[in-house]
Amino acid sequence: MRTRYLVTGAAGFIASHLCTRLLHEGHEVVGIDGFTDSYNPSEKLARAAALADHPGFTLVPGHLTDLPLRQVLEGVEVVHHLAGRAGVRASFELESEYRRDNVASTAALLEASRRAPSVRRLVYASSSSVYGNAPVPFREDGETLPLSPYGQTKLEAERLCLEADGPDLETIALRYFTVYGPGQRPDMGLRIFAEAALANRPLHVFGDGSQSRDFTYVEDIIEATCRAALAPSSGIAINVGGGSRITLTGTLELLSGIIGRPLNLRHEPFAQGDALHTGADLTRARELLGFAPATSLADGLRAEIDWIRQLRAGDRSVAA
Ligand SMILES: NC(=O)c1ccc[n+]([C@@H]2O[C@H](COP(=O)([O-])OP(=O)(O)OC[C@H]3O[C@@H](n4cnc5c(N)ncnc54)[C@H](O)[C@@H]3O)[C@@H](O)[C@H]2O)c1
Repeated sequence: MRTRYLVTGAAGFIASHLCTRLLHEGHEVVGIDGFTDSYNPSEKLARAAALADHPGFTLVPGHLTDLPLRQVLEGVEVVHHLAGRAGVRASFELESEYRRDNVASTAALLEASRRAPSVRRLVYASSSSVYGNAPVPFREDGETLPLSPYGQTKLEAERLCLEADGPDLETIALRYFTVYGPGQRPDMGLRIFAEAALANRPLHVFGDGSQSRDFTYVEDIIEATCRAALAPSSGIAINVGGGSRITLTGTLELLSGIIGRPLNLRHEPFAQGDALHTGADLTRARELLGFAPATSLADGLRAEIDWIRQLRAGDRSVAA
């Protein structure tokens, strides 16, 4: 059935994939984006331009704290809230921007969604950063110990969402684990490493390489996000991970193998705010969403590297 969705942060890495999927399924999508200065706006503009080619898509440019949200929400049944300021390291310098983009914006959207008669569900893009250095695998009912203002603001926004769950509005928070794939944000580790390796530049590695990550391919994230709109329960947080954990050293070996040459590594001290290990317990995702990740890191990384190669070759159409 054709549904009207609101996707916030529509010009962002993950949300632009989500909009594309919903449009291909024949839904109507209203996309909000404030084109914030979190990274090079040309990537966001290119994604928005690609979406605008689709007749089912309407772009509402603006920041969530400034827009007439009640009007924007008219006829919308499901809100996918992905707008936010992502990234751990920058959050130590820009705490007030993180508070505005993650917490104040979420509060404004929740208030408007609760009052909008057509909206039945809001799905929020939370983060594995809420766990900090909790023991792996992270379980949703375990401790949350954010290590950075980013993790803290994602946790506060998640709590606002889950507290708002009730008869007027159902809410679900998905805790995404390091998302990668074509279109990945330019400030994210895998993209920085892959771009440096392809350009034969040194790769700056923070820490000794023993830290580990649960990487999640973007199309797996989109699958779980779409399923969350229809899940039988609400008022809960659900992990969405890639299903396995790999050390940074192992990741770099994989990258070197795909690119077909040794990497020029420069070791630097461990970065403030980064968790040592991340790993998702996927029991809840399996039980409530019927979700299982489908893409291995090797396949997903090859897809991201192909995309970066096309970008480097000057094909701007792939920016989306
Ligand atoms: N990428 C990951 O690995 C990851 C992991 C966990 C959680 N998340 C969360 O998923 C969401 C999307 O992440 P992404 O990597 O696609 O980031 P992104 O920066 O590419 O996308 C976010 C988009 O939201 C827009 N935006 C930010 N604040 C806004 C506001 N208040 N009003 C309107 N627009 C606003 C930005 O301009 C940007 O286009 C974020 O909320 C992020 O915290 C991402």
